[in-house]
Amino acid sequence: MPEASPTCSTQVADQTWWATVLLKHYGIQASLTPLDGEYDLNFAVHQDGGRTHVLKVMRPGCETSLIEVQCQALDHIAQHGPEVVVPRVVKAHDGSRFVSAADRDGEERLVWLITNLPGRVYAQTSPQTHSLLREIGATLAMMDRALEGFAHPALGRDIKWDLRRSGWIRDATGLIDGAGRREIVERIVAAFDDDLLGRLNALPTTAIHNDINDYNILVDASTGEPRLSGIIDFGDMIDAPAVAELAIAGAYAVLGQERPVAALAALVAGYNGVRPLSDEELALIYPLVLTRLAVSVTNSAIVKREKPDDPYVTISEQPAWAFLETNSSLAPDWVLSCLRGACGRAGHPRSDAVMGWIASHRGRFAPMFGRSLHGIPVIDLSVAGPASPRNPFDLDPDDLDDAVAEAMGGADIALGRYGEPRLIYTGPEFRRAPYAGSHRRTVHIAVDVFIDAGTEVRAPLDGIVHAVELRTSPLDYGGVAVLEHTTPDGDRFYTLYGHLAADVITRLAPGQAVVAGEVIALIGDRAENGGWTPHVHFQLGLTTLGRGADWPGVADPDEAAGWMALYPNGAALLNLADEETAAVTVATDAVLPQRRKRFAQNLKLSYRRPITLLRGYKQFLFDQDGRTYLDGYNNVPHVGHCHPRIVAAAERQNRLLNTNTRYLHPAQVDYAEALTSRLPDELSVCFFVNSGSEANELALRLARAHTGAVDTIVMDAGYHGNTNTAIDISPYKFNGPGGRGAPDWVDVVPVADPYRGPYKGTDPEAGRKYADHVRAAIERVQARGRRVAAFICEIFPSVGGQIIPPPDYYRHAYSAVRSVGGVCIADEVQTGLGRIGTHQWGFETQGVVPDIVVLGKPMGNGHPIGAVVTTPAIAASFANGMEFFSTFGGSTLACVIGREVLRVVDEEALQARALDVGTFMLDGLRGLQNEHAVIGDVRGSGLFIGVELIEDPDTLEPAQRQASYIVNRLREHRILIGTDGPHDNVLKIRPPLCFTREDASHLLDRLAAILREEPCRV
Ligand SMILES: Cc1ncc(COP(=O)(O)O)c(C=O)c1O
Repeated sequence: MPEASPTCSTQVADQTWWATVLLKHYGIQASLTPLDGEYDLNFAVHQDGGRTHVLKVMRPGCETSLIEVQCQALDHIAQHGPEVVVPRVVKAHDGSRFVSAADRDGEERLVWLITNLPGRVYAQTSPQTHSLLREIGATLAMMDRALEGFAHPALGRDIKWDLRRSGWIRDATGLIDGAGRREIVERIVAAFDDDLLGRLNALPTTAIHNDINDYNILVDASTGEPRLSGIIDFGDMIDAPAVAELAIAGAYAVLGQERPVAALAALVAGYNGVRPLSDEELALIYPLVLTRLAVSVTNSAIVKREKPDDPYVTISEQPAWAFLETNSSLAPDWVLSCLRGACGRAGHPRSDAVMGWIASHRGRFAPMFGRSLHGIPVIDLSVAGPASPRNPFDLDPDDLDDAVAEAMGGADIALGRYGEPRLIYTGPEFRRAPYAGSHRRTVHIAVDVFIDAGTEVRAPLDGIVHAVELRTSPLDYGGVAVLEHTTPDGDRFYTLYGHLAADVITRLAPGQAVVAGEVIALIGDRAENGGWTPHVHFQLGLTTLGRGADWPGVADPDEAAGWMALYPNGAALLNLADEETAAVTVATDAVLPQRRKRFAQNLKLSYRRPITLLRGYKQFLFDQDGRTYLDGYNNVPHVGHCHPRIVAAAERQNRLLNTNTRYLHPAQVDYAEALTSRLPDELSVCFFVNSGSEANELALRLARAHTGAVDTIVMDAGYHGNTNTAIDISPYKFNGPGGRGAPDWVDVVPVADPYRGPYKGTDPEAGRKYADHVRAAIERVQARGRRVAAFICEIFPSVGGQIIPPPDYYRHAYSAVRSVGGVCIADEVQTGLGRIGTHQWGFETQGVVPDIVVLGKPMGNGHPIGAVVTTPAIAASFANGMEFFSTFGGSTLACVIGREVLRVVDEEALQARALDVGTFMLDGLRGLQNEHAVIGDVRGSGLFIGVELIEDPDTLEPAQRQASYIVNRLREHRILIGTDGPHDNVLKIRPPLCFTREDASHLLDRLAAILREEPCRV
């Protein structure tokens, strides 16, 4: 933001005039286009090869020293920091760095020319990644280092964007609309006056750019990963403390970021890696970021008064207000802990001293319960631990009581771990937003001791009561006390005791001294301790955050490092080794190399940054740290991951019996009845197997037995399984990498794809025309002197790209196949059981009845169940004497689970929900299609949805890179979808059917944001 000056003019550019000046003084024949510039004129210089230079025409009366300082600084950087990309000054014919030329009004102006740098401004860069911010930080540090020896008299000038002069806004806050907003700025300016200014003035000064705003950083995103391509506009350079440079850049780095502190930490870490910051500089960064933003919004308030009708002012101040309104009350200690952590330092300046003293006294603290805690049971409440709640969205306190009691195994005392990610914190106060799947706090940053309510709690060491409260909200602390302690060297720290009996507020009072071993409270019962199984939450803290007893006891896993540095493991105060209370974390880093060692390389892993998943519930999944992921992809858990009814049915049956089909059991017939009752009457005989592959194998055997023929017609890009014959009928495999082409008994017909195929959806005859290819295949079989055994295809081709074939296709195709005695097999592995919303099965949408239906994936909600259902006649042909037996197929357990899945589908009306939510999602996706050229087609039915991405609407060139980008970016937003189609350019959305409209909105919202990012542009 340039200096405001009454002498500046905002004269309109006259490109032709200045092009003549450029030719005259620099010998460059070029066309000019105006660039932004508040006071001076800036022109982009275009020659044949594109944009080459920037011509800068200063305001009339501009002092030469203002250009001199910039020219010299740019030269200095080029010489002392050549790795920092800044414009070069181009000399005029006469060898000077700037010339004087009259404008059209005859006023003399200073004119200079610099080289053009590639890239877009950071403000228009999306996404603004942390790695880019790290690079910006490192580059600023290099630049500041290069500028260290640079001096010029103009650097001493007085400008209002000097952070040390920020106090000027004090008298202007009255111009800010809204009491809340005014109060934020007043608070910031008071802190600046009281504390910051003095500390800033105590720092040495050096030449700095002083205006690293989001329009002065250039970024090149052409290679996919955005990289810094240059720094421009040195017009506000001054001598100031170097930390001001970083704080100004930080004020822009935090804007629009979902995790602004992490973004700031990335910038600071990049800077510190090159030019190490002192502890004091680190401590000043965040308060200065707030100061800079306060100056910026106050300045906007002034400009708004001057230009009340300019909507741009309100728009441009919006990100700063958005940040200040949500983040200005962030705990400064935590922010500093994050910044220090990012720079490899202990999170709190007192950390080392306090923790050193505590560790050296381990074993000598008064026992909190009058006894040793060594060797007592430890309750595993981790994400996948045995005491993890059944419903990770709604903790049932009885459930937790039972789990803890079971884990205690009759003991009267047990520990709960520090740093353990847990899914027991289910109240809305633990979530970032009301949406169930939003980020939540899971990591326990204290140690628990589970023990009977009413047990006395003793202070481990001398202290003074800092705070005592009764916090009565559900899942809060109930009775809670904080003691303040001081080491012999005067280093302060605190201990917090949560879930105490309510009478703690009468036992203790702030300021009261307590001595080691003194009873300070009793353990609370569920009625008074926030509703928890009786225990004490014992937390060591280096700070109270100035919030009395209102400490966070649980941290968001993505922010846990900063919190854990402020609230370290208090094991030593319990006279325990740190390992005795430390969380046992899943070594996710070790899983990947182990997997590579133990499995073949063609076992594919989803996402560039793979996810470890330990827990599922309905449409959500959880990783090892308890991060929630919305599952928009997995159709196997048809009624929802770990649906309680399916889990209960499986548990019950596992206790009773699980054996095979050679014995009578009502569950088998019950399941077969339930399944066939959902199918047309003709399809009445079931075979139970364990997978879709096995079911397809069997279906082919049935067809061959019935027809006496072998030759099979398949649809291109189809997939039917991983066994030998299933691969033989899967063009997706035999024509894919490593495939050996179609066997001589297989004929491939084109995918009946109304978007990419030869006959488009607009053609009313498309279905028949695609079916004509089936006729042609039949003729090819006959020409070989053979007969057709079967026509098999996925009713809605899934790996083919989530395709809905045109109407009548199956009517024509099936009648052609049947006319020569062939059997029609419908692979409904992906589509069955209500997923498509309008119907239970895909074939019903086209009014056909197959001869054999193949089922798999969703049937067992994750339990391996496959089935073939056919007509009595075909079953009779197959019953030729050879026994059919599948050891696990139709096991008692499988039948019980499969039956329960059907009940849940019906009782939870999941087919209707698939239709409702799917239609909502399709509408939303079509809305996005209207806005984004990359979306070529949106198709689907119910919750079977495909979004085809293209580079070009005429050629339909597949946009595979964008599809991969979107899927990986959604993964970063913790939403799982996949890609499919022969070109891998189709977004595949096929969630569990319990998916809600709210989930769909969340997905659409995130997808919309990603589609606006640079790599999605076509
Ligand atoms: C349409 C279709 N049929 C069959 C199969 C094979 O099923 P499974 O992996 O259970 O063997 C799949 C698997 O993805 C499939 O999508």
